[in-house]
Amino acid sequence: MEFKQQLKKYQEIINKELEKYIEKKDCPEKILNQSKEYSLMAGGKRLRPILVIATYELFSNEIEKCMPYAVAIELVHNFSLIHDDLPGIDNDDFRHGKLTNHKKYNEATAILAGDSLLNQAYIVISKDLCEDQENMQNKAKIMQEFANAIDKMILGEYIDTEYEKKEITSECLEYIHINKTGALLELCVKMGAMLANASDENIETLVKYSKNIGLAFQIKDDILSEEGDEKILGKPVGNDREKQKCTYVTKYGLEKSKQILEEITKEAINSIDKFGSKADFLKSLAMYIKDRNK
Ligand code: IPE
Ligand code: IPE
Ligand code: MG
Ligand code: MG
Repeated sequence: MEFKQQLKKYQEIINKELEKYIEKKDCPEKILNQSKEYSLMAGGKRLRPILVIATYELFSNEIEKCMPYAVAIELVHNFSLIHDDLPGIDNDDFRHGKLTNHKKYNEATAILAGDSLLNQAYIVISKDLCEDQENMQNKAKIMQEFANAIDKMILGEYIDTEYEKKEITSECLEYIHINKTGALLELCVKMGAMLANASDENIETLVKYSKNIGLAFQIKDDILSEEGDEKILGKPVGNDREKQKCTYVTKYGLEKSKQILEEITKEAINSIDKFGSKADFLKSLAMYIKDRNK
């Protein structure tokens, strides 16, 4: 199947699956549930669950077995976006071409919607773990990886916020990107491989790939914040510069950032050669991350 078609197919599978986790009942917390749905179904690319499934499919085709983890990571991702947009962090008004959660609802609702999405992710994976006696040990390990990666995302967000308007070393900038964005992407690949019982050697190879696409993803995000098309992107352009955020573009300039992006994308692609044509989708995904306009 052609890459774009495959991507769309994955997105449809994930959207359908996520629908199952949306609470529609009439209850006192109805607005909280609506605000979670508002962000979760706003049109995200679903890159993280796609990574879980596509990695899993290198080794096994029973994809329903990795679905709880694909869902959980998308719940966490949406928590991170809602909180990232809050006035105390990036203070952004638009995402996915719509008002950000705190602008549509209010700050209290947005904070709690984020908290609830994060917690729901643990509900989803702990349920799967408890229901699978046979693989409990492997799944407990996966849950630990899950928690550790989220911790990295949070500390990355903290340093990112702390460094606004400050000079930053290359090492520290890379540290922010690896943590705030790379950690979750690495987790997706690791979870996909671990759920499919991949060998340690294969996991190591895939982690190398994921580290490169993780960093590449955030460098591209920095580039799009500088020269993207706001209408396509659905979120503000020029806001990183305005807030004097530390990004690859503000540190190295556009040209050098694009050059670094090219290099690490190539590295990502080469690192999974050993999987042959089975890894074509993951290779194309690395290119997509580099060339995307949203
Ligand atoms: C945006 O992630 C936040 C970053 C980590 C840079 P995505 O671009 O994957 O967000 P979606 O596609 O809107 O969900
Ligand atoms: C977002 O980073 C990273 C997380 C949400 C963890 P950015 O602040 O750079 O991403 P956008 O541009 O708002 O999506
Ligand atoms: Mg941010
Ligand atoms: Mg932001």
